[in-house]
Amino acid sequence: EKGGYDHFMMKEMVEQPKAMMEALMSRCCENGASFAGLKLNAEMMKKINRIQIVACGTAYHAGMVGKYYFEKFARISVETEAASEYRYKNPIVDENTLLIVISQSGETADTLAAIRLAKERGAWVLAVTNVVGSSIAREADDVIYTNAGPEIAVASTKAYVTQVGCMMLLASFLGNLNGKMKKEDAARICHGLMMTPGLIDKALETQDVIKAFADKNYQISDLFYMGRGVDLYTSMEGSLKLKEISYIHSEAYAAGELKHGPIALIEDGTIVVAVCTQENVFEKMLSNIKEVKARGAHVLAIVQAGHEDIASEVDEVWVIPEMDDDITAIPTIVYLQLLAYYLAVARGCDVDKPKNLAKSVTVE
Ligand code: F6R
Repeated sequence: EKGGYDHFMMKEMVEQPKAMMEALMSRCCENGASFAGLKLNAEMMKKINRIQIVACGTAYHAGMVGKYYFEKFARISVETEAASEYRYKNPIVDENTLLIVISQSGETADTLAAIRLAKERGAWVLAVTNVVGSSIAREADDVIYTNAGPEIAVASTKAYVTQVGCMMLLASFLGNLNGKMKKEDAARICHGLMMTPGLIDKALETQDVIKAFADKNYQISDLFYMGRGVDLYTSMEGSLKLKEISYIHSEAYAAGELKHGPIALIEDGTIVVAVCTQENVFEKMLSNIKEVKARGAHVLAIVQAGHEDIASEVDEVWVIPEMDDDITAIPTIVYLQLLAYYLAVARGCDVDKPKNLAKSVTVE
């Protein structure tokens, strides 16, 4: 049932290229995205003056990436919030609101409660979910299925990459509807997304390097991640994956925030994973790397091909293939999933069934 792999998590990480293909199929078109069966259209979007994305855990991180690209591509401002917060704060939501919820299982109690609250107040609810016929799919007004296939491991992997892919498509779709996204950008994003299955395969091929790093460092008690722009959300998701399955304490920070407090935690030998896939902030990341190095950090940098020379500034470099900066969130997380996985395995953890966690959180 695990397809010959030691864990469902590994099987599902390996399935990610196929999952991405399924998520993109028939939706990724030359001039932007199209979603068969979606009721939301240009006419309805005219009256929408507020977009909210609500989810939990890993799906919440996909929502953060979604917010980033909704703003970048469609120039629409978006609030992303944890469902457990949204439901208890008397959110500003009415008939002019589009609420987008993201949920792998389609059964998460807080996310479901957010839908019910928003619907009561007249909002249009669009669910992005992996499970056909789930409670969330049934209660939403509109559904986009991520088509990742069944996910068994508690740590979400293939569902996440497909959620991110769907959010990028949705950003491109809305940018098309409101005319804010240029045709050439829509074509570029579509082309970039179609490359992601191959790029995930390339990430999976580097397992030996990642395992060697994990085998050398598995006794660490803390790990820090830092990034700017979309790399911040990849960092947050990498950090969550690590905590969940390896029980190593970890934090993810906006790199520019470190000097406002967290840098106090950096000691001699503390590992800092610097996610540096974005050209527009590359130099800024370099400064942040120098700051943590000056406090003794052991820095692992993740860069696109072409930036190998960062090696002179850091302790270890993982070079990912060169790609469009706007799609790095998808392949890059795979390196961090593998890092979490191999650290957990080296520590003897049961990666498929982490303590204290359930696959589907149907109670709050
Ligand atoms: C992390 C993880 C959880 C879920 C969260 C939401 O690997 O699996 O953080 O992402 O419980 O679950 P869904 O997406 O089913 O609503």
